[in-house]
Amino acid sequence: MKKKVLLTGDRPTGALHLGHYIGSLKNRIEFQERCETYIMVADAQALTDNYDDVNKVKNSIYEVVSDYLAVGIDPEKSNIFIQSCVQALPELAMFYMNLVTIQHLGHNPTVKAECKMRGFNEGVPAGFYLYPIYQVADITAFKADIVPVGLDQAPMLELTRDIVRKFNTLYKKEVLVTPEAIYPDLKGALPGVDGQKMSKSLGNAIFLSDEKEAIVAKVKKMKSDPGRLSATDPGDPEKALAFSYLEVFDPEKQFVEELKERYRKGTVSDKEVKERVIDVIDTFIEPIRTRRKQFYADRSHILSIIKKGTERAQSKASETLNEVRAAMGINYTF
Ligand code: TRP
Repeated sequence: MKKKVLLTGDRPTGALHLGHYIGSLKNRIEFQERCETYIMVADAQALTDNYDDVNKVKNSIYEVVSDYLAVGIDPEKSNIFIQSCVQALPELAMFYMNLVTIQHLGHNPTVKAECKMRGFNEGVPAGFYLYPIYQVADITAFKADIVPVGLDQAPMLELTRDIVRKFNTLYKKEVLVTPEAIYPDLKGALPGVDGQKMSKSLGNAIFLSDEKEAIVAKVKKMKSDPGRLSATDPGDPEKALAFSYLEVFDPEKQFVEELKERYRKGTVSDKEVKERVIDVIDTFIEPIRTRRKQFYADRSHILSIIKKGTERAQSKASETLNEVRAAMGINYTF
């Protein structure tokens, strides 16, 4: 049976954190065993709101790819590639633009929220406004069956399904594939150290590359049960963020249950719970951090991985572009 095609991507705007690991990297490591996998470093999309800081985006490519490799994304199984080097993508987007209205794009809730957050006072750059169409090209170019993404990406997936249907109907050929989104299990979502969604821009993230001192400082900031004034007061583990981390990362489930029980009874201090969190997180990150340093230091190795992945991506995307042009009847031969 033909392997399913998986495509996903990240904007390179900095190093990846534990939230990325739990929400998506972990899944990718499992999926790469049974899917034809493409992992896109979406530099062109990152530039739509970082066009004035190209170096940040460029340097982040190394950061992100080092993170991928350090957690176990295997370049023999996953094609890691650079979006801006696949020229069939903007070409596909050019044809898709005919199938969407500006009005429809204006209703995209994720883009709306992002515009608000970025405070585009002089108006929204056209590149940014249109990035969802480019994302449709990213997904369809690879004929992706499955696209694991965060919930905020739902409007892009909707748009993709919409354009696929329109294209195939209009040009009377089933060229494009309707992708299925896979969203992370929100039950297992990992909050940032301030209790909000973990995010680089909110400054509440523990990075896969963090040194122990950074982990200690961040864990210390985690909120405990505010109703608990001393270690002998009974507390509610649900209200202490440290326990959310133990639930995700502590391999000794029984120990965590006992610790919670002691918290409820008031026989363990918040300091002790946090020490356990520091220990567990550092044990988890330590081997990743070490591998990551080795990868990050060897740029030529990273470049060779990206080169191979990008060449494979280019060839697959060009094939789709040819089929798209043929379906439209513009595969000129002269
Ligand atoms: N928009 C995605 C994000 O911000 C990144 C991305 C770009 C992507 N192209 C994609 C994700 C295609 C999945 C498929 O995280």
